[in-house]
Amino acid sequence: MVRADAPGKIILFGEHAVVHGQPAIAAPLHAVRATAIAAPAPHASGLTVYAPDLDLTRRLESLDDSPDDPLHNALLFPLQVALRYLEQPIPDLTLTVRSTIPIASGLGSGAALATALVRALCAALDRALPNDELNPLIFQVEQRHHGTPSGIDNTVIVYEQPVYFVRGTPPQPFAIARPFTLLVADTGHGSPTHTTVGDVGRLYAAEPARIGAIFSEIGGITQQARRLIEAGKVAALGPLMDRNHDLLRQLTVSSGALDRLCAAARAAGALGAKLSGGGRGGNIIALVDEERAGSVADALLAAGAANVIRTAVRPPG
Ligand code: MEV
Repeated sequence: MVRADAPGKIILFGEHAVVHGQPAIAAPLHAVRATAIAAPAPHASGLTVYAPDLDLTRRLESLDDSPDDPLHNALLFPLQVALRYLEQPIPDLTLTVRSTIPIASGLGSGAALATALVRALCAALDRALPNDELNPLIFQVEQRHHGTPSGIDNTVIVYEQPVYFVRGTPPQPFAIARPFTLLVADTGHGSPTHTTVGDVGRLYAAEPARIGAIFSEIGGITQQARRLIEAGKVAALGPLMDRNHDLLRQLTVSSGALDRLCAAARAAGALGAKLSGGGRGGNIIALVDEERAGSVADALLAAGAANVIRTAVRPPG
């Protein structure tokens, strides 16, 4: 029996603009994870995925089957992609998956589930894949889920370290001079990333000059944030987060609940706050001083957050 797992993720700066060529910064969210356990199955029984939390069992019948079904895409497609890459037939195996990452909430649940499943499959086949080979496979899964993803979600989740990311290029090494604390507050409403990414793409096609200028400003904020993080000037990230949130509102991907949570965090003493991920639902992140973390978390819950997670962004290792 072998076990593998993968973390959730948060986008610190640059979501949506990253789909259109601008840089973004993301970090793993270790507090929530997807886990897969692979166990041998009887001869000729094939590959079964069991998701006990959803009370769901799915069998992989063929490497070529490709129904347009969200459960197939989430649970079986990653395994098809990996088996094709490894040039392996369908093995006799049961994979049991669990996840504490809320679905469609901008925390990378799809990419983390795929990463855990493929890692467990590879370990069971004794064919462990280095991250540089695994990452493009999980990107293929993301493309199936999200249409035109940038690749940032799979990259931060597979490498499990903070990344400065530009679409189509390898993640760039990036120093974190001083760890900092974020609160991740959930609106409790899901929103599929492919919808918001599609809507922003349509807005850009309709108004290229206005929307292109917003993407460029977000890209500039992300570059400035990188310099501040590398210099350890963490408090100065707050106003950049606030401005990035404003620009995301202009891209139509905020919501009343996301705006309310950001305002509540700022009023309670957060240094800055913004939505994180695809938007219109999902989570906000708020930058806090350690000593204010408890009172800002209480204010977020009082303002309607379904859940608040405290996390630190720190150098890998
Ligand atoms: C989703 O976590 C981030 C988006 O920028 C989409 C992407 O980069 O693929 C909204």
